[in-house]
Amino acid sequence: MTTVRPDFTIEQNWQAYSAEEHAIWRLLFERQQRRLIGRACPEYLEGLGALGVAADGIPDFRGLSDILDCTTGWRIVPVPGLVPDDVFFAHLARRRFPSTCFIRRHDQLDYLQEPDVFHDICGHVPLLMNRVFADYMQAYGEGGLKALGLGHLQRLARLYWYTVEFGLIATEGGLRIYGSGILSSAGESIYCLEDPRPRRLRFDLRRIMRTRYRIDDFQQLYFVIDDFQQLFDATRPDFAPIYQEIAVSPDLDPTARVDHDRDFVAGPRKKMGHTSARPKFREETPRRRTAGPQPVIVTALHNLRHFVRMSSCFLQTRWQCLIFTAGSAA
Ligand code: PHE
Ligand code: FE
Repeated sequence: MTTVRPDFTIEQNWQAYSAEEHAIWRLLFERQQRRLIGRACPEYLEGLGALGVAADGIPDFRGLSDILDCTTGWRIVPVPGLVPDDVFFAHLARRRFPSTCFIRRHDQLDYLQEPDVFHDICGHVPLLMNRVFADYMQAYGEGGLKALGLGHLQRLARLYWYTVEFGLIATEGGLRIYGSGILSSAGESIYCLEDPRPRRLRFDLRRIMRTRYRIDDFQQLYFVIDDFQQLFDATRPDFAPIYQEIAVSPDLDPTARVDHDRDFVAGPRKKMGHTSARPKFREETPRRRTAGPQPVIVTALHNLRHFVRMSSCFLQTRWQCLIFTAGSAA
């Protein structure tokens, strides 16, 4: 049986994956790669390429860790599933990313109750190859331990949600995705950029910390950073006084409008090639070259939502109850 160590790590046991499990990875990977070109931020695509994460099958974490370690000093540590918050933060603070090992079943391609190896490895790990983002994640781990001690985890969880899981980034080529919850979601990776309904606001730390989030549907609100340095610099100050300061302000719903909100307005695109002229969002609009039968892979949007919801990792378990009682917290 799998031994779970005191720090909640296990062995990945890579040779035990079946051919069918690798085939599921392939399906998920190929579908998502088609969507992410031109939608994911360049840093993500670079990281993915440099790690050699590909369609072949579920990667062996040891190989990935060696490349990561040489590049940014991070390693992947296999865990059985959600780990307690303090354990999660302590791993991040030591530049260790806890990743689940199991892969969803074939009948769960778009519906899953918890993060799996596809979300963790394809969604989270590639950006750990970026120096600034890697430092941000470590700082987040340290900040998490501190927020736990101060009793402000809920505020810090919102920062994780609106950046690490659902963040957008403005690039010269246009708006791109860096949040892993979107990167691993077939439906939301299109919706977040192309649907007119969600609001897209410029990154604002206090606004994020005050804003509740939905876990049961595509997001109605995204925050856009200019680059990872902005994110790192904005979160560098001591949060203790900021927690105090916003404790007197009411929490906000994702649909709330606040006076000083700065909407993200897409600037003129550098090159108006046909790649940046996106089709208006329609349900699962097939993209160039991908029209034609996509048997198992085409799915209803409402099913995809569930994966989005469940891809929020450690946030869902204990914090979910906080979210729903947030009204009384302020
Ligand atoms: N600067 C934060 C603090 O003092 C730590 C932190 C850094 C939190 C980056 C999140 C992200 O708590
Ligand atoms: Fe996640």
